[in-house]
Amino acid sequence: MKTLFLTGANRGIGLAIVNEAVKRGYAIFAGCRHPQKAADLQRLASENPDRVIPIAIDVTDAASIERARDDVRKATGAIDLLINNAGVFPHGERIENLDPETMLHTFHVNAVGPMIVVQKFLPLLRASQQAKILNITSQLGSISLHMSNHYSYNSSKAALNMLTRILASELRPAGILAVVVHPGWVQTDMGGTAAPLRPSESAQGILTLAQRLTLAESGEFFTWEGRKHPW
Ligand SMILES: NC(=O)c1ccc[n+]([C@@H]2O[C@H](COP(=O)([O-])OP(=O)(O)OC[C@H]3O[C@@H](n4cnc5c(N)ncnc54)[C@H](OP(=O)(O)O)[C@@H]3O)[C@@H](O)[C@H]2O)c1
Repeated sequence: MKTLFLTGANRGIGLAIVNEAVKRGYAIFAGCRHPQKAADLQRLASENPDRVIPIAIDVTDAASIERARDDVRKATGAIDLLINNAGVFPHGERIENLDPETMLHTFHVNAVGPMIVVQKFLPLLRASQQAKILNITSQLGSISLHMSNHYSYNSSKAALNMLTRILASELRPAGILAVVVHPGWVQTDMGGTAAPLRPSESAQGILTLAQRLTLAESGEFFTWEGRKHPW
C-alpha cells in the first residue's frame, strides 16, 4: 500500500486530500496541529482504522516535526508521497503597515516549514521506491504573473517555488522528485466562498498529478489540473 504524509490535514484542501487518498487506497499519515480537536479528520480515521492516522505537527517547530516523523516511523518504514499543504495568508498588508513578525511567521509556515519537513522525513522518503514531494504553492507566488499585492503570502510562495527547484535538483540523484502545485482557487477558509472550485475537485487533481509525475518533471511548477504554470 502506498503511503502518504501531509500537513494541514484537518480542514480545507488538506482534509479533502485525505478523503480522496482513502478512495485511492493510500495509507495516510494526516498531520495537523491539534489532532484531538480535528473532528472531521477523526471521523475519517475512525471510519478507516489503520488507513488514516492523525499525527500532531506544527511546521514552525522543528522538534514537533521530528516527533511527527518518529510517530510515522512507528507504523511505516517509507513515505511514498509527501504533501506540504499547510499554509497561512495574512490580509490587509500595505507598505505602511508591514509587520516583520507577520512576514516572518508567513515565511516560516509557507516556505521554511516545508523544507524542514522534508529534511526530517528524508530517511522515510529515501526508503521509498519512488518518493514524490508536492509542495502546495499558489498562483499568487508567480513573479511573472504578479496577480496581487499580498506582500507576505505572495513572496513566501515565490520563496517556496525557488526552494523546491533547488530541492528537486539536490534530490534528483536519489530518485526523489519535488514539484510545486497551485491547487486552484478553492472554497476553503483561506479561499473564501466566492472561489469556483470545491476542495474535492482540487484534491482529485492534485492526487492524479502526484500519481502520474515522473522524475523527468521534477522541479516544475504545475496547476492542480496537471498543466505547467508560469513562474
Ligand atoms: N484555498 C485556495 O484558494 C488556495 C489557493 C492557492 C493556494 N492555496 C494553498 O493551499 C494550501 C491549503 O490551503 P487551504 O485553502 O486548505 O487553507 P485553510 O483552509 O486556511 O487551511 C490551512 C491549513 O494549514 C494549517 N496550518 C496553518 N499553520 C500551521 C502550522 N504552523 N503548522 C501546521 N499546520 C498549519 C491549518 O491548521 P489549523 O487548523 O491548525 O490552523 C490548516 O489545516 C495552503 O498552502 C494555501 O496557501 C490555497
